[in-house]
Parts: sequence; structure tokens; C-alpha cells
Amino acid sequence: MRIRIFDSSQEAGTYVSALAEEVVLSRSQPVLGLATGSTPVPFYDALVNLWMCGLDLSKVVTINLDEYIGISSEHPQSYHHFMREHLFDRVDFESGNIYLPHGDAPDLDAECRRYDDVIARHPIDFQILGIGTNGHIGFNEPDDLLLARTHIVELRPETVASNARFFDDPREVPRRAITMGVQAILQAEQIVLMAFGFEKAAIVARAVLGSVRTDVPASILQLHRKVTVVLDRQAAADLLGQHPELRLSLS
Ligand code: PGA
Repeated sequence: MRIRIFDSSQEAGTYVSALAEEVVLSRSQPVLGLATGSTPVPFYDALVNLWMCGLDLSKVVTINLDEYIGISSEHPQSYHHFMREHLFDRVDFESGNIYLPHGDAPDLDAECRRYDDVIARHPIDFQILGIGTNGHIGFNEPDDLLLARTHIVELRPETVASNARFFDDPREVPRRAITMGVQAILQAEQIVLMAFGFEKAAIVARAVLGSVRTDVPASILQLHRKVTVVLDRQAAADLLGQHPELRLSLS
């Protein structure tokens, strides 16, 4: 794993956008795997900046990790809405090249199969990930097992609590979601895991330095050959505490 530590999430976002640009420029139809949450926002801002500076994104295919079940894709807290607000309405992606799972599909099992088919037809070149404080990637929650394919998940109480900050009414916070499985994530050619803030420091250290285990889903990224972990100094605090030599090599 490459680890890159920045003074701010803005600088980190700019770095990740440069990695994405390399991929976009080297493919005729680049496929970006995208994430929601507060973590990827600086990356999206930087990508929009690059687009305004001339980067052509019209051939890019995007595939999002997950979506809530129980709210419509028009709901202001849906991930469809989030992506429109932070990225899709700001650049010139082709609408037919944008894929998200539909948490409001009438047949959710069929929707999972449809999404696996989308992923199979568009192998992901560059996968963006955040990490939950419990170690989840996408909504692959800590458990005795990890599921390979797109699936329906009961969100863990800590995830529901963390997501509640975005909802006015706590009763509205979804308890279930549809998420890409770990197979699609691990099949991405390149993965960038981003984490910012002190509240991510402990789980980042466990995911990067600890054993590979299903109750720390992000630790499975240790098995992938091309992962970059992009942190701010707060999220890197425990990593640097356990590996002071990393601090030296970074200074
Ligand atoms: P956050 O969520 O970016 O809002 O911290 C990350 C995640 O849960 O994957």
C-alpha cells in the first residue's frame, strides 16, 4: 500500500484528482468507481476544477458503491441526490454513463443482479473509497463474513447513528442499503482509500497495519496490489504513532 499524508483534505483531494486524471487520460472509456459521504467531497471539488481547466470527462463511466433503501432517489439525502449535487450536475458526464444502484427498485434482488451485470460490463479502473469508523467500505459492514456480490445490507447501529447527522428527522434515517460487494471493489485496477479527521485514526491504523479480518472490512484492501491510502494528519495520527519511521520518511 502506498500511504500519502497531507496537511488538509483539500490538498489530499487535489492529489487524488491528479491520480484520477492519469486514469482518465490513459483509457478510451475510463471507469471510475465513486463513493459518497463527506470524505470524497474535496476530491469531487478538485475533479470539477480539473474539468474547468480543460480535462475532458465526457467519455467517463461512473459506478457508485451504494444507495439507501427506504428513501427515493429524489430524496435530498439519497446518494443519487448527493452525486448530482457534488459532481454530476457540475461536469459534462453523459447521463447514460452514470450508474448507481436503485434502493427504491420494486425488486431489490433483481436490482442487485442488474448492478453486478453493470459492473461486469464496465470493469472499474479507479475505485474511490471512504472508510466508516467501524471499518466498512461501501456498506460492507463488519461481520463474520463479507459478501462478494452486490447485496442488501442491514446497516449497523453505529452506521445509522453516523448517517443521522445528515437527516432532520432521525426516524427517516435508513436502516438498510444496497451495496456493491467486496469482489467488485477488489477487482478494480486501482483503489484509493481516503480518510480525514481524528475519528478515523484508530480504524485507519487497524485497516492498514492489523490482520485481514471480516470485522474490519477495509483490511481486505491489504490483499490488493494497487492501493493508495490518502489521509490528512489527523486520520494518520495512530498510524504515525505506531510507525514513527513513517513520519521520518514523510518529512
Ligand atoms: P464519511 O463516511 O465520508 O461521511 O466519513 C465514510 C464512510 O462511511 O464510508
